[in-house]
Formats: sequence, C-alpha cells, structure tokens
Amino acid sequence: MKFFVDTAEIDDIKELAATGLLDGVTTNPSLIAKSGRDFMEVTKEICGLVDGPVSAEVVALDHDTMMKEAEVLRKIADNVCIKVPLTVDGLKTCKALTEDGTMVNVTLCFSANQALLAAKAGATFISPFVGRHDDNGFDGMDLIEDIRLIYDNYGFETEILVASVRHVTHVLESAKIGADVMTAPPKVIHGLFKHVLTDKGIEGFLADWEKTGQSIL
Ligand code: E4P
Repeated sequence: MKFFVDTAEIDDIKELAATGLLDGVTTNPSLIAKSGRDFMEVTKEICGLVDGPVSAEVVALDHDTMMKEAEVLRKIADNVCIKVPLTVDGLKTCKALTEDGTMVNVTLCFSANQALLAAKAGATFISPFVGRHDDNGFDGMDLIEDIRLIYDNYGFETEILVASVRHVTHVLESAKIGADVMTAPPKVIHGLFKHVLTDKGIEGFLADWEKTGQSIL
C-alpha cells in the first residue's frame, strides 16, 4: 500500500520524505488555507520534495473553468495530480484530463456508486473519505470493502486512495482490505511507528548494554 501524506506543511513533508516511506502528497483548499502559503508556490515546493503524485485541487464548479484551472496547475510540475470533486462536471473534467494523460484524483467520494462512476471516467485515484463517513454514522471501511469488490469485479485500474484517515486503525483496515493508497495527516503516519513494547525493549537493551562497558564505535 502506498503512503501519501495529507498536508501542505513543508517541514512535515520533508521529515516524512526523509524516511523513504512517502509515496506522494495530497492537499486540498482547506489545507492550503491552513498553511498560509500561496497555492502555486507551495504546490511547486511540495512537488520538488517527492517523486510521486501531489494532488492539487481545482476550485471551480463548472467543467470549462475546471479545465482552465487544471491547465494552470498541471504546468507546475510533472508529478501534479489534478484533484476534482465527484460531481457531473468533475467527472467530465476527469475524463478529458485522463484521456490526455494527466493524473486525476476524484475527491469527496462517499458511496460505492460514486466510485464506480469515477472509475468509468478513467480516474487515476478515487478518494473515499472514511473519517467523514464515520462521523456521519456510517462505517467508512465498509465503503472501502465495497469499492475494492466492485473494482476487482470489473478490473478497473483506478487506485483506491483512502482519505480522511483519522487514526492508525484506519490504516490497518485499509491494508487488510487491499486499498492501493492511503493518505493521512503527519501525526497518524508517525503513530504507525509507535509501540510501547518497542520503546520498553530499547530501554531494557540499552540498560544491559551499559553494564557491559563496551562501545561499537
Ligand atoms: C484527501 O485528499 C483530503 O484532503 C483529506 O483526506 C480530507 O480529510 P479530512 O476529512 O480530515 O478533512
């Protein structure tokens, strides 16, 4: 499963990129606003930090303007992935862009039927929002299971990008289901490394090593 980080904070991206485990980045208008940075400038900087896809979202609601915005965004770097909302105009834009060889991430997916439409429109990624789904009384992971089943039934190549990830269990469940990608805030990715017994084990080994009076270097 590929790991994307869901942020527009440069320091967080640099730190995770240095682990060698980061496969891409997702942003959205809220994350750009939170960063306080200029959209074009920060997106360009992020594209230079990772080799994989960097999702940059259009803000227009109609197809023609979405295409114009996408034209501007895809000039930023080769690894820009245009993010469009799951609407009729968004999927029209998705079809036009992917036919032209541009990566597209279809965002704000909350049903398996919507995911089916995105795959038919040739989406590179579909982003089902599991956390927001859970918040509204549904089970986000059931949605991922349904989409995996449907995509496998028909051999769709659209990658399932689990989004709105809130905790490490979302990551574990996504991997068990066979999602292709997950995008999570930096805090959740850092949480994946942690286990109390790892910390306790290191503490014990170091205490015993100290007693030997030896050094490796
Ligand atoms: C994904 O691409 C979105 O940016 C993101 O996962 C939304 O998550 P949220 O529900 O925490 O805002």
